[in-house]
Amino acid sequence: MPRLALTINGQPQTLDAAANTLLLDLLRDRLLLTGSHRGCDTAQCGACTVRLNGRAVKACNVLALQADGAHVDTVESLSDGKLWHPMQRAFSKHHGLQCGFCTPGMLMRACAMADEGVPAEDGAVRQALAGNLCRCTGYEGIVGAVCEGMRRMRGESIEAADAGL
Ligand code: FES
Ligand code: FES
Repeated sequence: MPRLALTINGQPQTLDAAANTLLLDLLRDRLLLTGSHRGCDTAQCGACTVRLNGRAVKACNVLALQADGAHVDTVESLSDGKLWHPMQRAFSKHHGLQCGFCTPGMLMRACAMADEGVPAEDGAVRQALAGNLCRCTGYEGIVGAVCEGMRRMRGESIEAADAGL
């Protein structure tokens, strides 16, 4: 069985994994990082989104072997449980979730979008979030949250965020 060495949420890990193990299964079943959700298993819903070397990827569509040597960040990396990440605060403020099933993937995609330079504007955010589906919210709160969260992550004023919505 292949042996993997990767860094998960800042912690070096060495694990044995079968060649056909999905990254999502490695995270959820082996490491008990269950924040990444399995919604479809066919790379459509985005509930399993994590960051692989900073890039947002759907963990149900990545083999664990493909993450060998990489840095993987899951939603658990965003907060120590005491202090929320700016994107989490924005989701709370804008009511960007209802059942919460899609939320881990939304948060991880949104954080990657901030680093990718996606404009904090309604249309650009909707386009960049097209691979993440939500069955509850109707997206208004999510889009508002992502716009504000990206501005917070970039150190921009929130007044500007409000004016842009
Ligand atoms: S479970 Fe991975 S995209 Fe839906
Ligand atoms: S909040 Fe329920 S699926 Fe998005």
